[in-house]
Amino acid sequence: MAKTIQAIRGMNDILPDQSPAWQYVEGVLREVAAAYTYQEIRMPMLESTDLFKRSIGEVTDIVEKEMYTFDDRNGDSLTLRPEGTASCVRAGNEHGLLYNQIQRLWYMGPMFRHERPQKGRYRQFHQFGVEAFGMEGPDSDAEVILLSARLWQAFGISEQVELQLNSLASNEARARYRDALREFLRAHESELDEDSKRRLDTNVLRVLDSKSPETQAVLANAPKLSEYWDDASREHFEGLCKRLDAAGVKYVLNERLVRGLDYYNRTVFEWVTTELGAQGTVCAGGRYDGLVEQLGGKATPAVGFAMGIERLVLLLASQNKIPAHNAVDVYAIALTEAAELNAPAVAEKLRSQSQGLKVQLHCGQQNMKKKLARADKSGAEFALIIRDNDFELKHLRDREQEDVIASSLDAVVAHLTQNS
Ligand code: HAM
Repeated sequence: MAKTIQAIRGMNDILPDQSPAWQYVEGVLREVAAAYTYQEIRMPMLESTDLFKRSIGEVTDIVEKEMYTFDDRNGDSLTLRPEGTASCVRAGNEHGLLYNQIQRLWYMGPMFRHERPQKGRYRQFHQFGVEAFGMEGPDSDAEVILLSARLWQAFGISEQVELQLNSLASNEARARYRDALREFLRAHESELDEDSKRRLDTNVLRVLDSKSPETQAVLANAPKLSEYWDDASREHFEGLCKRLDAAGVKYVLNERLVRGLDYYNRTVFEWVTTELGAQGTVCAGGRYDGLVEQLGGKATPAVGFAMGIERLVLLLASQNKIPAHNAVDVYAIALTEAAELNAPAVAEKLRSQSQGLKVQLHCGQQNMKKKLARADKSGAEFALIIRDNDFELKHLRDREQEDVIASSLDAVVAHLTQNS
């Protein structure tokens, strides 16, 4: 036998028994985005490598070690998008959507990062993201956070997620804080983990993220970012908190939250859960007022977030919040040879008369026992036996109920409607 070929590690098939959950989730995401008047944008999955280097930052984990980058046949360096914000800004600039305008956009689709696969962390994963452009006040930060909060409500998992908030303040304030943090950590360099030592020079804020208990112990006495906030950023942050308070959205302040992408300023936030083990961040985002200009556009304030759909689906499954789904409502079987010729036409009429009814027509010649076994296995509520002159409807799930003989398809539909 020929050797079988397998999917790339960390890249998953979404199989037929999983796709109803995905369709449900995608449907709710679309509905909630529409309720906030966000419009869909679809970007290509491949972009120039420079786009991500210039936006996410050269010394981030994503750019340094996680991108799928290759030269195409023309020798151009291309990268499979590791996230959507950079592409969204690129598209906005390219098509003149951003300058002097307000845009509320959302996107959904696969992203690619060469990370070590584990539960909730994959090399191809899917994000739903929203990006709001052209609004600088904390009301737009509040809007995207409320949108995310409404999603948890719609999915019935508000109790399982916690909102963590921080402000990275202005670039100047952050630069001053970076210097102070570096100076403090240098004095404790021998107590830091190796990664953190390396980050002292390259990306010292990321030391705050370190999982090492020794490093965390050092950080307990480190200067705090909030001590370096500029007045305008403080006011912005307080404005956001007041709006969240008024809307009844709970949050915790996390001074160590700095995010792994370089483009953020002011507000950053993450929704985390304890239900998924190590990969507990289901949604993350923040403000990135400098990015549009950094990528060649006119200065435009912006704020947004992205959520990991795999993590969301895992969380919903762990809470039994995925609605039951029946792939087949009626399994139609012909009783006689004559009925068999008529069966496709009958199934067509049934589909036309009952919108949304899922009708599976038995194909192939088998004895009645086998046909009924198939009907049962399909999960259908009913078997419809098409006879020469009438129809028999069998209740497959509720066996107590008596079978129904119907003289016309209208009578079949009437019975199905009564029982649905
Ligand atoms: P991010 O924190 O890199 O932010 O990713 C957002 C979310 O995508 C994460 O919280 C997680 O749920 C999911 N995610 C990330 N990597 C993986 C992975 N390897 N496997 C499964 N899920 C993953 C961004 O991407 C920013 N673009 C968010 C943003 C939008 N900020 C402003 N606008």
